[in-house]
Amino acid sequence: MNILVTGGLGYIGSHTISILIESKYKVVILDNLSNSSITTLNKLKNIINKEINFIEGDINNKGLLKEIIKKYKIEAVIHFAGLKSVNESIENPQLYYKNNVQGSLMLFEAMQETGVTKLVFSSSATVYGIPEYLPIDEAHPTKPINPYGQTKLDIENILLDLSNTNPSWKIISLRYFNPVGAHPSGKIGEDPNEIPNNLMPYISKVASKELSKLKIFGDSYNTIDGTGVRDYIHVMDLADGHLASLEYINDQFACFETLNLGTGNGYSVLQILSAFEQTNNIQIPYEICDPRPGDVDSCYAEIAKSINLLDWSPKRGIMEMCKSAWDYESKKKIN
Ligand code: NAD
Ligand code: WQD
Repeated sequence: MNILVTGGLGYIGSHTISILIESKYKVVILDNLSNSSITTLNKLKNIINKEINFIEGDINNKGLLKEIIKKYKIEAVIHFAGLKSVNESIENPQLYYKNNVQGSLMLFEAMQETGVTKLVFSSSATVYGIPEYLPIDEAHPTKPINPYGQTKLDIENILLDLSNTNPSWKIISLRYFNPVGAHPSGKIGEDPNEIPNNLMPYISKVASKELSKLKIFGDSYNTIDGTGVRDYIHVMDLADGHLASLEYINDQFACFETLNLGTGNGYSVLQILSAFEQTNNIQIPYEICDPRPGDVDSCYAEIAKSINLLDWSPKRGIMEMCKSAWDYESKKKIN
């Protein structure tokens, strides 16, 4: 089966491709390299030892999308391409609406016009906004509190309307919680171009001494130790969830499902820091700082719907998340 993977050289896309190709899917990547590097393509080829078709381009280029779909006889799309920084979306919301929402519209039109109606979409738990109850299930109200989360909800609503109008569409929207970790080979992982906003890549850079210490954003939250609690999921479990979603879609006449991809467990910042130190036998210096605006006390998923519908469940624990993250960071210089 021929799959178009938009944003496939990014963090989650590249890890998903590594298992798609193991599962005999043929993959075509479209990526504009706005937050990734062509070196990831070579690392992927090294891991899977297979040819991968890559086109550098933008999802806003509908003509290019249609050309790729026809040329490679694409049968389904996994749509990772998008900007994902909450802070940047607050500073420049137009950029996010143009890139994420308009770009997705171009993709969906190109798919409609070429008769491709199977789609897995990268959504985010950010669509839920401030948790009204925990664990968060898919029925939880969706009230995003930043433009980034709003773009994800807007795209989900476009897809819902699309599937209501065109019953032949088969769509799964995956709401990721906090993806972390790296491929077991240590050759690909989370490697933001700038100083990381997210916890795990920041800790990894403190471990490699690229950064001096971790700033913990607040220790007065209503949690086990006062630091923020989140649902961290290994990126390879997330990748498995995409494979399971494709296989589910292939068995359906039509569908539109939104599914949480998390573990159902919440860990605090201090618990993650301790797990990273113990797993990797490394000290991580830190200081407690003021809370980060927009952060919530706790956020973790109810994943029963995903387990039942996809016959999928997360397999990798917090130690493996920390080990794989450090394996990647420590090998980066030699890979
Ligand atoms: P990433 O930035 O590593 O990957 C996104 C990829 O898309 C990058 O390679 C980038 O170059 C590409 N891209 C961006 N805009 C594009 C455009 N207009 N045309 C073509 N390519 C474009 O991010 P990621 O962590 O791999 O996330 C993948 C998807 O999952 C994103 O849509 C993100 O919003 C979503 N998501 C990520 C997280 C997370 O914590 N990483 C959580 C929830 C949802
Ligand atoms: C986790 C915890 C911080 C960094 C974000 C996006 C969300 C999604 C996933 C795209 C929090 C604390 C962090 C640091 C810290 N991305 N922290 N010091 O905020 O749950 O979610 O990534 O969809 O949209 O909002 O993840 O990793 O930034 O923070 O203390 O240097 O770690 O306060 O409690 P978050 P995060």
